Amino acid sequence: MEFNKPADQNLFDRSKVVGKPHTRIDGPLKVSGQAPYAYERHDVVDGQLVGYPVGSTIAKGRITSMNTEAAKKAPGVKAVVTTLDIEPLGIWDYNAARLFGGDKVEHYHQAIAVVVAETFEQARAAAALIETSYDVEQAKFDLKSEFERLQGTGEPDTVGNFDEAFAAAPVTLDEVYTTPSESHAMMEPHASIVDWSDGGDMKLWTSNQMIEWGRQALAKIFSIDPDRISLESPYIGGGFGAKLWVCSDAVLAAVGSRAAGRPVKLAMPRPFVANNTTHRSATIQRIKIGAAEDGKITAISHEAASHTLLGGSGENAIAQTPYFYAGDNRYIIHHPVEMNLPEANAMRAPGETAGLMALEIAMDEMAEKLDMDPVEFRIANDTQIKPGNPMKPFSDRHFVECLRRGADAFGWADRNKTPGGQRDGNWLIGHGMAGAYRGAPTMKSGARVRLKDGSLTVETDMTDIGTGSYTILAQTAAETMGLPLEAVDVQLGKSSYPVSSGSGGQWGAASSTAGVYAACVALRQQIAERLGLEDPRFEGGNVVDGDMETALVDIAQGEELVAEDTMEFGDFKKNMVHATFGAHFVEVGVHAGTGETRVRRMLAACDAGRILNPITARSQVIGGMTMGTGGALSEELALDQGRGFFANHDLAGYEVAVHADIPHQEVIFLDTLDVSATPLKAKGVGELGLCGVAAAIANAAYNATGVRVRDYPVTLDKMIDKLPAI
Ligand code: MOS
Repeated sequence: MEFNKPADQNLFDRSKVVGKPHTRIDGPLKVSGQAPYAYERHDVVDGQLVGYPVGSTIAKGRITSMNTEAAKKAPGVKAVVTTLDIEPLGIWDYNAARLFGGDKVEHYHQAIAVVVAETFEQARAAAALIETSYDVEQAKFDLKSEFERLQGTGEPDTVGNFDEAFAAAPVTLDEVYTTPSESHAMMEPHASIVDWSDGGDMKLWTSNQMIEWGRQALAKIFSIDPDRISLESPYIGGGFGAKLWVCSDAVLAAVGSRAAGRPVKLAMPRPFVANNTTHRSATIQRIKIGAAEDGKITAISHEAASHTLLGGSGENAIAQTPYFYAGDNRYIIHHPVEMNLPEANAMRAPGETAGLMALEIAMDEMAEKLDMDPVEFRIANDTQIKPGNPMKPFSDRHFVECLRRGADAFGWADRNKTPGGQRDGNWLIGHGMAGAYRGAPTMKSGARVRLKDGSLTVETDMTDIGTGSYTILAQTAAETMGLPLEAVDVQLGKSSYPVSSGSGGQWGAASSTAGVYAACVALRQQIAERLGLEDPRFEGGNVVDGDMETALVDIAQGEELVAEDTMEFGDFKKNMVHATFGAHFVEVGVHAGTGETRVRRMLAACDAGRILNPITARSQVIGGMTMGTGGALSEELALDQGRGFFANHDLAGYEVAVHADIPHQEVIFLDTLDVSATPLKAKGVGELGLCGVAAAIANAAYNATGVRVRDYPVTLDKMIDKLPAI
């Protein structure tokens, strides 16, 4: 089915199931420990051995020798495979890192060996016995010097004449903002069980957001036919973009399995998550804004740099700037800088997360210079048309309504406007806000449905990374087929199912529900033909046409009806910009004695089209707000500048926001429908909640103290010397 024109009034507008609050279908399995994660799938294949990885201890150079004698003789060891034993493996299209093979080292903790043994302890002990010698080469880790070198170079995206307009502007800002490298720090580390015992067909049970990408990636890495690879990932303990790709857990388990002739399971030790897989790159961002006295932006420049391995994308911090605010003169450029750090790649809302951390502080600073309310300043610079080249209308944009609704609900008007001017005992109280922007792409997505005895099974290789896919897909199928939710069983995450959009880039919910809708429409047609009907309605478990009513359960007694289709999104969508919008409002307290910042309450107003399920959607947004609290106040992969590795590579040293850091959270969804987004008029919301929230917290900390921190995270050491006396 092709979605080739904006949706009319349709069955989703009746909203009997879709749009209703349903708790997660997989919730009971999750909380009772019965949802099997990759490493726990003891029953899928017999004779599982355990693999343990070895990582390089240099960032750049060549391996001259590896001594595996002692490891091979260690108790329980079944196989040792080093990177010198095999040719360099292939690199898949969306990645920059070579996961294994050859003598070349490109980043610290690159996988250089795998030890396979009967038990985890045996494998780990033997891995420690491998001795490796290197020729070390000079490596680059310093983003700041690279940014200074690159400023003003390259081919910027320009509109009008930025320099002239900026020089002529009566009110200007020119500041540099920095964001640190961040780790996805998901609860479940990357883990795989691989059966490649005979080097023939490869079977994986893994934790991955994109089943088909995973298959294609492994095919490229190992130069084998993708049809020989099967992959299952029905439950995922968090991904945040780190599991968009196959990582070395799968690759090492595969080579280990082939060498040992038995299935191998391998979970990444936590330090490997930080230093072996991908992370969000640090950024340096210089932002210049010029505005007229009335607050209209006349010139905006955003120049950013982030690091990545050669061929990687880094953190594209300018992502929102061509879209978010009006302004006739623009200069926008991102410099990806090749550095010898682990691969920098997508982490939840890649681009906008770091970009808005900077831009939304800059907007706050400009509002202050203009003596305008930061909400009104943003409203004055709203645009219904993407202002750059090419100019395109937004399909549906209600940013101003987010700002107004959010401000009202939060009580923004009542705040203290003078920085450092409100206290609660020893706590300095501040309020801040920021805008949120995140693209809303759709990807082609397929599904299969099976109807038997009135029950419907949905099969798609879509994944649920903790987002609620199981639930919203069941709701979509129930709505389309006129069945109760309980009559629908959703099966996800297997490569034998039709290829879906997968989960990433906040495209999953919108795309995969459209795919399930397409499959259900195919089933409806099949049923209509069987009954000789033109266009019956499906409701209350029945097929209804005039006076005729047939129960779905009676249509094919005992027989199974199967239908499959893929939703494709037509070219008409390319003529407009699909995006989601929001506004964050935050109250913080900064301790006048210690400089510690605590969030006291936070509110987000969101515009993301039809909200498919207010419970799962809210959960996504508050999850984003929580993640952004960590991003604002504590998260930072601390780089060892000498050796080029992230030193705080565990959940003790890498400080994500925890329950105690999270206060009252409120989410308001605007009641919008984006008719050109999908047949369900829905857009994703999984990443929007993170966008802008860290800046709202930083702005609130400024309002509390009068201390402007432009260097994330906003930690107490950056505040303490400048605070008013206690
Ligand atoms: Mo997302 S960073 O595309 O999982």
